[in-house]
Amino acid sequence: MECYPAAKYGGLGDVVGALPIYCNRAGTGTSVIIPKFGTKWLNQRQYREVFAQHIKLGNEYVWFAIEEVVDANLGFPLYVANIPGKFDRPGIYGDPGLPGQGGGWYGDEVERYLCFQQAVLKWVVDMKWKPEILHCHDHHTGLVPFMVKHCPEFRSLRNMPTVFTIHNGAYNGAFSWRNIHLLPYFDAGARGLLDWGDTICPLAAAIKCCWQFTTVSPGYLEEIKHDANGLEPLINSELHKARGIINGIDTELWDPTTDQMIAHRFDGKDIAAYKEKNKNRLLDKFRVIPHLPIVTFIGRLVREKGADLIPDTIFKALGSGIKASFVILGTGDKKMMETFAGMKNQLPGYFDVALEYNEALAHQLYAGSDFLLMPSRVEPCGLNQMYACRYGTVPIVRSTGGLRDTIPDIGEKGGRGIRFDNFTVDDAAMAIYRATRVFSNGEIMDGLRERIMQADFSWESSAGAYIEMYEQLT
Ligand code: GLC
Repeated sequence: MECYPAAKYGGLGDVVGALPIYCNRAGTGTSVIIPKFGTKWLNQRQYREVFAQHIKLGNEYVWFAIEEVVDANLGFPLYVANIPGKFDRPGIYGDPGLPGQGGGWYGDEVERYLCFQQAVLKWVVDMKWKPEILHCHDHHTGLVPFMVKHCPEFRSLRNMPTVFTIHNGAYNGAFSWRNIHLLPYFDAGARGLLDWGDTICPLAAAIKCCWQFTTVSPGYLEEIKHDANGLEPLINSELHKARGIINGIDTELWDPTTDQMIAHRFDGKDIAAYKEKNKNRLLDKFRVIPHLPIVTFIGRLVREKGADLIPDTIFKALGSGIKASFVILGTGDKKMMETFAGMKNQLPGYFDVALEYNEALAHQLYAGSDFLLMPSRVEPCGLNQMYACRYGTVPIVRSTGGLRDTIPDIGEKGGRGIRFDNFTVDDAAMAIYRATRVFSNGEIMDGLRERIMQADFSWESSAGAYIEMYEQLT
C-alpha cells in the first residue's frame, strides 16, 4: 500500500521506496506496484497504460487499468493499479485530517485490498515476460501467495515463488467468512489455508502459502515466536521458511551533508556547530528553553509506538527535577492528540508539539534535536532511530525488536544510545535522566555524536540479503 515518495504513511513506505533502488543497482531488476491513490505526488504524474481489465467482486464488476509512471526517476519502474471508486481518494488507509489517521479507516478495506491483489495478478498472468518472484508486503497483499497457488484463474503462476515480508504483525487484515463471495473462485480443498480463528486472515494465509517469509529485523522474528497476537503456533510451525533481515535506510535521501530540507547542512567536520545552528532553527518554531537538551518524538501517535507512555514520563521526569525539554511531531489517535495539545499550556518552555505529518519538519528535528525518544511497545524494525543517528541525534529506545538490534546501550561496546527494558514510566524517565547526564558532559556527547553519525545503516548489505534469498528461490 505504500511506496515513498508516491504514498507514505510510515516505515513501510520508506522501505518499499528504497529496497528496489538497491536491488536494481545490484543488478536484480525490481519493479514496484501500488494502488493509484489520490495523493498529491501521484496526481501530478504522467502515466502510460499497460493493461486493462475488470474484476468480479461479488455481484459488482470493477474496472481497472495498470499504468506505468513515466515522468519520475525513482531508481526503479513504478506501476500503479488505477481502480476508480476504490483508491482515488486523498488518503492511503483513511482520509488525512479526519480523526481517521489511527482511528477511523476507510470502511471498505476488504474490497479495496481484494481488488488490488487481483488486478496485479491478472496483469501478471497476461505479461509476456513474467517476473521471477512476487514479493508482497504486509497483510494488504497477504492473499497473493494463496491466490497464485489455489485460484484456477491464476494457475499459470502457481510455480512463481512468493516472498512475504511482515513489517507489522500487529495488523493481520482478518475479516469475516461472510465476505467469502468477494474472493475469486478457489479450490474448495484450500479453504483451510485462509482460515485463522474462524476468520479469513490474510496475514495467516500469507505465512502458510508463501515460499519464504521475512521480518524486518532478526530480533522481531524472535519476538513473534512468543508474541504474535495469537499467530505464535503458526509462526513456529513455519519457521523453516522464515528470515529476519534488518532494514536499511536511504542514506542519500537522509544525508545531513546534502539534505535540502534542513536549515544548516553538516560540513563533514564541525558536528557541534551543525547541531547548534539547526537547534536554533527549531527554537524559532518550538517554544522551549534554549539551553536544555531537546528530547523529540517523531511518529504516529499510537499505542504501538508507546505514545501513550510519553505524557506521564514527561511529568515524572520534570517533576523529579530532570532538566530537559520535549517536542512531539506526529498525528494519530485523537485522544492522544488532545492530551499533547493540552500539555503545551501546562508545561510552557518544557514542551511543544506539532500535530501534523510533515516530512520536512521531521528532517529539521533530526538535525536540531539532541535526543530522539522511541518508547515503542513493539517495533518490528524502526527507521527513525537510524535517521536520528545519521543526523547526530542520540536515540533513547525501549529494548524491543529492531530497536534492540540497531541501538546498543552506551554502557556496552560500540554503544549508540540509551536503552530501557520495561514499558514503564519509571524506566523511561530513568532513561531520560541518563540522557541528560550524557548531555551535561560535552566531551562524551561529542564523541557519541561522532560515532553514531558514522554508523553504517545503508541498504547495501540488507538488499544483499534479500537478493541472496531471491536467488535461492529461483
Ligand atoms: C512498520 C514497523 C516498523 C518498520 C517499518 C518498515 O512500520 O512498525 O518498525 O520499521 O514497518 O519495515
